[in-house]
Amino acid sequence: MTSTAITGIGELVSCDGTGADRLGRRQDAAVVATDGVISWIGPTLAAPAADRRVDLEGRTVLPGFVDSHSHLIFAGDRSAEFEARMTGTPYDGGGIATTVDATRAADDETLRALLAGRMAELRAQGTTTVEIKSGYGLSVTEEARLLRIAAEFTDETTFLGAHVVPPEWRSDRDGYLALVTGDMLAAATPYARWIDVFCEPSSRHAFSGDEARCVLEAGLAAGLELRVHGNQLGPGPGVQLAVELRAASVDHCTFLSDADVDALVDGAHDTVATLLPGVEFSTRSPYPDGRRLIDAGAAIALATDCNPGTCYSSAMPFMIALAVREMRISPAEAVYAATAGAARALRRDDVGRIVVGARAHFAVLDAPSYVHLCYRPGVPLARALERTI
Ligand code: NIG
Ligand code: FE
Repeated sequence: MTSTAITGIGELVSCDGTGADRLGRRQDAAVVATDGVISWIGPTLAAPAADRRVDLEGRTVLPGFVDSHSHLIFAGDRSAEFEARMTGTPYDGGGIATTVDATRAADDETLRALLAGRMAELRAQGTTTVEIKSGYGLSVTEEARLLRIAAEFTDETTFLGAHVVPPEWRSDRDGYLALVTGDMLAAATPYARWIDVFCEPSSRHAFSGDEARCVLEAGLAAGLELRVHGNQLGPGPGVQLAVELRAASVDHCTFLSDADVDALVDGAHDTVATLLPGVEFSTRSPYPDGRRLIDAGAAIALATDCNPGTCYSSAMPFMIALAVREMRISPAEAVYAATAGAARALRRDDVGRIVVGARAHFAVLDAPSYVHLCYRPGVPLARALERTI
């Protein structure tokens, strides 16, 4: 057994508090980790002896950020599409085919190296858990290949064969759905925990409510757990379908009716509304109303959606700053949503909070308070401490 005492924590934010903000803040704290698991939390002066000691000299410590929604495994570049969007071309999902071509053309080693680089980028900004979706392969062998490589980096892998209908299947949507729910699902299942679908009737590339239901029910029957892309580009059935099927998360939630909000409140025990403000930033779209969801009683999470089309940012601190500035939520609510809230969206209780028994996954801020995450936007204050434990 190897133990490490982390001392000199100016402000410890456990995200396991009983107060109104649930942050559980304490000053001058220490934490001991034994073999990667938190074994003691208390005042620095009372810290027990340990094999190693890391003195953080007054910095802030939070749970490592949990990025519960990303599309990190891909090749290629769509900066020209981004540039066109900034001068008025709307996003409709059509650019996904460009990334599919580039990804199919990349060999395993190239994809692995690209993904390893993005994982390092994430950790450098304080993220210690990440979910990774497939969805840029869109054939039986390519989807299985992406998930196999992603599973080398995370346990939270998601099969997204129902991302869009690829060009070669455009004249036979039903045939593509049969493939996704048949051979593709069978090939993906050994490497995936979750199944997801881009439910967006307003996009001809994505899937209707009935098609999404068919994909999710097939995934459930194959033993996968459910996540949904819903209500991103316009109103639609995604949110209510996700709640009805008890999906762990419905993501985007940008265009919500009162009935959608009511459903999220009723289903809050099972289904988290995951907000992805980097997408609205990068597509120049209206932001989801985080305040409305929190005030109504829905459970929310914050994640990056890091992907080459709608948000090529892996920075959870940036998402926190955007959420506070653009979605009318407080710094405390945003930090909670990016840690404990996002852990819930992955149905994980071993990450997202600093409690005895949880994994020793920490984000360290080179700042005296968590508020600096949004008070000093764009400044690289956060990093993951995981590798030192
Ligand atoms: O979550 N909406 C669908 N999928 C991604 C975008 C993928 C892409 O444009 O490459 C998203 O925004
Ligand atoms: Fe996404």
